[in-house]
Amino acid sequence: MSHSASSESVHVRAPGKINVYLGVGGRHDDGYHALATVFQAVSLYEDVIARPAADFSIVVRGVEDPDSVPLDDRNLAMRAAKLLAAAAEYDGGVALEIRKSVPVAGGMGGGSADAAAALVACDALWGTGFSQARLHELAARLGADVPFALHGGTAVGTGRGDQLNPALARGRFDWVLVTSDEGLSTPVVYATLDALRAEEGALADDPPLSLDVPIPVLQALRSGDPELLAESLANDLQAAAVHERPDLERTLSHGIRAGALQGIVSGSGPTVALLCSGPESAQEVQSALREAGLDPLHVHGPVPGARIIG
Ligand code: C5P
Repeated sequence: MSHSASSESVHVRAPGKINVYLGVGGRHDDGYHALATVFQAVSLYEDVIARPAADFSIVVRGVEDPDSVPLDDRNLAMRAAKLLAAAAEYDGGVALEIRKSVPVAGGMGGGSADAAAALVACDALWGTGFSQARLHELAARLGADVPFALHGGTAVGTGRGDQLNPALARGRFDWVLVTSDEGLSTPVVYATLDALRAEEGALADDPPLSLDVPIPVLQALRSGDPELLAESLANDLQAAAVHERPDLERTLSHGIRAGALQGIVSGSGPTVALLCSGPESAQEVQSALREAGLDPLHVHGPVPGARIIG
């Protein structure tokens, strides 16, 4: 295949996400659970800079513990770059620099954002010229959350979370995020959910292998009214995340006492997302939680997916 590879670096920014609704069904034979979820991309970003190189390499900036992010093929951005190179029959490499702001193993899709950003950056750097649909197809092979990080905005995810349909969302939603120093493993949280359900005596074909997002969640997003959305926030993984990390329950009630409308564990956790009535309320909640010794961030959504900067 012929390419017009760039000799300049390419800088791509991709957002982290919150699942404003996450319904988890039964487990398929491949180990993945049936999902019905609504993603919202929020203003906490990963920056990926791709520079021309003969081989593949990664450096990561912005993490306190350098061992928390692998720099080899376990890194989803590395896998993304190599997958694109194979699909495009490109025989060069790339030097990737990842500037992290989304918490590592935080339930906000930071690794997925890195992978989506790496796809877009390498596509531009190598002059691959793949369509959005082709990039989406590669993204889905990398992980259930990667297509959404490409797409951004607000979207319904079904299947394993990778079949996306845009959802209409009006206005802006203000969130206060409380991150944790220690991450949670996504597979562990799903396995805990299975164990909790087994304890409750769930039958083999219950929960279902296909499920939908409840209509009131979509209506709340369309209305742009945070009070309505607060009534619909739900996450089937929350009980499992709290089982692993009982302190999350305290963070949730603390946030509500501080004035948030409602709180939810984001994805598989441990990040807690507190929905506020607007920017001023979010600032008040943020100050109250900071005084309590927590590390809150004020973000808003929806924001666009992975895109080239400057
Ligand atoms: O696709 P991703 O790499 O993000 O998934 C990480 C892990 O989360 C999977 O290996 C699986 O254990 C769990 N998972 C799941 N069902 C999904 C998505 C993820 O069980 N729909």
